[in-house]
Amino acid sequence: MSFVVLYGIRTDYVHEVSEILDSIGLEAELWDNRDGSQDFAQLEGRPFVLAAGSPNGRMELDSEARGLKMNPHPAIVHQSASVSPSASLGPGSTVNRLVAIGSRTKIGSHVQINRSVSIGHGARVGNFVSFGAAVVLSGNVTIEAAAFLGAGSVVLPGLKVGNGAMVGAGAVVTRDVPAGRTVVGVPARLI
Ligand SMILES: CC(C)(COP(=O)(O)OP(=O)(O)OC[C@H]1O[C@@H](n2cnc3c(N)ncnc32)[C@H](O)[C@@H]1OP(=O)(O)O)[C@@H](O)C(=O)NCCC(=O)NCCS
Repeated sequence: MSFVVLYGIRTDYVHEVSEILDSIGLEAELWDNRDGSQDFAQLEGRPFVLAAGSPNGRMELDSEARGLKMNPHPAIVHQSASVSPSASLGPGSTVNRLVAIGSRTKIGSHVQINRSVSIGHGARVGNFVSFGAAVVLSGNVTIEAAAFLGAGSVVLPGLKVGNGAMVGAGAVVTRDVPAGRTVVGVPARLI
């Protein structure tokens, strides 16, 4: 009996989520909506996780699903990931292979954590944040809701990435990033 519903819209991340579920022996109905043509109405009341890559895409889908009295499934974590027992993960979040999550971290709901991400101790991560592969957060970093961190970016200790901000692939963040802004490069600069 499948009890998790996945949405894929304009993304292949649905396959990654499917592999996470396989690794922990959970069965799911893959709801492939990459062309946006599926009718959600028949999913009323089902638990769900989201496989859309962008924070905005997941926010839209979440609001649509909640309109159908659907609730997020508890976070799903790849069998190879290492999550501190003192960390908390909100519902609907997905943790891909080889991720490491440190002590006393608090991670919100519908957070997408791609392969080999390292989240340092004491991090605060808001809802709908997206981590590209191999992002590194040093200790006590704050990532506000719906921020996007590109692959291989690094955030130095104690810094804050604001609501909806974007960090380019490979950037090294040495100062707080204002909400809604984009930074790239080493050291990261606003564009
Ligand atoms: C930062 C980013 C979001 C900017 O996208 P954008 O707003 O479309 O920006 P553009 O492509 O128009 O680039 C704007 C400028 O920034 C530069 N730039 C873009 N991304 C950069 C990066 N990651 N590092 C350094 N410079 C970058 C471009 O060369 C361009 O410079 P120019 O004006 O001198 O030509 C995007 O380039 C990026 O890095 N996305 C991350 C993708 C990723 O990692 N996905 C997850 C995979 S797991």
